[in-house]
Amino acid sequence: MAVIGAGGAGLYAALTAAGEGASVILVAATPLAETASYWAQGGLAAALAADDSPDIHRDDTETAGRGAVRRSAANVLVREAPHAVTDLERLGVRFDADRRGRMALSLEGGHSRRRVAHAGGSATGRRVVRQLSAVVAEDPRITVLEPARAAAIWTADGRCLGVVLEDGRSIRARATILATGGAAAMWSRTTNPPGSLGIGMLLAHAAGAALADLEFVQFHPTAVTGIAGREGFLITEAIRGEGATLHDANGERFVDELAPRDEVSRAVHAKMREQHSTHVDLDMRAIDMASFPNVVGALRDAGLDPASTRIPVAPAAHYVMGGIVADLDGATSVPGLYAVGESSCTGLHGANRLASNSLSECFVWGRRAAVAGLQEPDADKTVPLPPAAAPIERPSRATQTALWKYAGIERTKEGLETLLADEHPLARLVARCALLREETRGSHRRSDFPDTDPALDGRHAVVRGERAPVSEPWI
Ligand code: SIN
Repeated sequence: MAVIGAGGAGLYAALTAAGEGASVILVAATPLAETASYWAQGGLAAALAADDSPDIHRDDTETAGRGAVRRSAANVLVREAPHAVTDLERLGVRFDADRRGRMALSLEGGHSRRRVAHAGGSATGRRVVRQLSAVVAEDPRITVLEPARAAAIWTADGRCLGVVLEDGRSIRARATILATGGAAAMWSRTTNPPGSLGIGMLLAHAAGAALADLEFVQFHPTAVTGIAGREGFLITEAIRGEGATLHDANGERFVDELAPRDEVSRAVHAKMREQHSTHVDLDMRAIDMASFPNVVGALRDAGLDPASTRIPVAPAAHYVMGGIVADLDGATSVPGLYAVGESSCTGLHGANRLASNSLSECFVWGRRAAVAGLQEPDADKTVPLPPAAAPIERPSRATQTALWKYAGIERTKEGLETLLADEHPLARLVARCALLREETRGSHRRSDFPDTDPALDGRHAVVRGERAPVSEPWI
């Protein structure tokens, strides 16, 4: 089996496949510390508390997703996330405990219960990815190619046979799993590591796989702004879960800080515009600084002490709900090709992801795709090796600025049409999906279509090749 990407989803898929006896090649483009999973602060959302249940977790997921969550995908997540947490513990991840020694669960926006398992306060991604990498390094069935980048998906007769790397090597595999992360670094203002450029989405698209929902891009409301060296640094929502508050230029609170993320980001954006301000302020003074050592440390390193000063924040592109269309096992529309984590789109997140569902998704779908991939027929060894392929195109600064300007928190038909002429293919795909959705829903706000159209509930913008995107119902 070939796994492309060594963040949480890729590492866990590789470990699952190896645990089933498969030989795995894990292709890692970036050092550990540059994967989006490593940067994840929140944690894994899972119904673990006595007052919680998978159904309540699903209801919260659907409410946040604004009528666009695919229920079958949400059911898979909420039922399997608790097992993902226990399995990570088996692999050596140590989640934070409360004073009585029970798993500590934090609260984030849109959750009606304390539900987020975390490690090292807000260093969850770092702790999980480090531990899984250590386990992978010890597994003799997993070969890690690092640094190595995928240049093309190898297909023959409509089936995926493996992957072609930028250095010219080819990997033939029974199943190929894309776990390449998201695309939020395509936007000029982002919380993401620089490699989150939708590489997997472009690889899959070129191989003929369907993409969907690229108009749904989540903007995180509390990314640091105006501080040299810390632009876009994320301040986890869990800090608001512990009581941090947002204030406008007059010092007034203006939004329920624990509403779903689309609502909070939009309120921040509107307030900044109304007050001609570059930011609003996050007041963390009432929280226990020791609970969030990495956030507090990073702010202090930048010369801001959150124990005495309010922190200037503004929205930044954080997560793309859309991606490579994948079913409940991560299978794409190309046989033999799977997609998991942020590179995929199962419909789980709808139009606005519920906080911390994404790390849970990585492990739930990482396992499912590995298990399903092992059922694929043996790779056909008679097919000759594919030719070398050119590297996937990276965006220019102009593309990143244009995405922020025309496919940011507020969009219009004219702005999106400008993007249709952008030099980067992913920018054009985002514009095509966003133009099709003539309504406002979740993270997708059209100022020319300010209302939600109930006729579009449960519908997804699906793009195949160069054909016009189509709106499809998913169940
Ligand atoms: C956060 O901690 O606020 C981000 C976590 C997430 O994106 O779910």
